[in-house]
Amino acid sequence: MPRRNKITIVGAGNVGATAAHWAVQKHLGDVVLVDIKEGMPQGKALDLAEASPVMGFDCKLVGTNGYDETADSDVVVVTAGVPRRKDPKTGKYPSRDELVETNRKIVAAVTQEVAKRSPNAVLICVSNPLDAMCHVMYHESGFPRERVVGMAGVLDTARYKYFISEALGVSVEDIHGMVLGGHGDTMVPLPKHTSVAGIPLTELLPKDKIDAIIERTRKGGGEIVGLLGYSGYYAPAASVVAMVESILRDRKRVLPCACLLDGQYGYKDLFIGVPAVLGAGGVEKIIEMQLDDEAKAALEVSAQAVRDVVALLPYGK
Ligand code: NAI
Ligand code: 2OP
Repeated sequence: MPRRNKITIVGAGNVGATAAHWAVQKHLGDVVLVDIKEGMPQGKALDLAEASPVMGFDCKLVGTNGYDETADSDVVVVTAGVPRRKDPKTGKYPSRDELVETNRKIVAAVTQEVAKRSPNAVLICVSNPLDAMCHVMYHESGFPRERVVGMAGVLDTARYKYFISEALGVSVEDIHGMVLGGHGDTMVPLPKHTSVAGIPLTELLPKDKIDAIIERTRKGGGEIVGLLGYSGYYAPAASVVAMVESILRDRKRVLPCACLLDGQYGYKDLFIGVPAVLGAGGVEKIIEMQLDDEAKAALEVSAQAVRDVVALLPYGK
């Protein structure tokens, strides 16, 4: 008997719960929300389910503190972890990289639980530090590289596009562009590959304005943390849902995602953000763009920043 798609989201906090909200609103499939906090995923799932008669979705929602309900998921999104929150004692925010030690243990444990129950799922990592946590998911799941992918580039690109649309006073829909590299301050927005309805961005904005947008994009996550005291979740959740949709509906959208490279762009065995075709098989193809020397050098800086964090992980030692 045909069944609905099944999406598991581990970590029912800000990003996870918001992703669940948009996934059911888009009728993408039934959703299982998992969290360690007792009652919390159950409460959020029930609250969201009670919105279904009003919003008109039929997707089922289950909240749980265990994993049995996640069995046979088509897509598993992992947002479990500790976000960038201000330390009440020091008043300082941890960098994404400082989260590595805590989050790698969480992501490893979660991955083992979901992988054994959903051996055919596509795994989407959201937890930070993103590119390094993708390595954890890849190693702990034993899944092929096509079925482990990280969400960051869609978010970073969304921020970049939004800032451009704001600067030009034009619709976000007509901005086309891409941010590559690791999810951090070294990410690589590509102005020479950015257009507004086909018109090169470089013809529409002076260099100093483009540079300011690039800088704001690179610090986009921190800008929200500075305002809220914790990290953003609407744009991150929307970005996750775009990836989930492309996979479940086999749309084959070209989205910048953290993928395990196998020689593309000159990198091997490293997760970094590159344009990927996302479809039913997960990362079905990585598209290699022609980058100029400046972009290649920026990508290498970003790749090195990712390697530095990956070196903190226990794999390959
Ligand atoms: P949050 O604190 O609101 O939610 C995280 C949830 O994970 C909490 O509810 C917590 O109880 C749960 N959790 C912790 N350990 C768990 C475990 N072992 N099993 C199951 N659940 C567990 O945080 P938020 O804002 O939702 O962010 C989640 C993660 O996503 C953070 O690591 C954050 O830095 C990252 N993030 C990444 C983005 C990206 O672009 N890749 C964008 C935004 C956030
Ligand atoms: C962001 O970019 C914190 O990684 C998260 O918003």
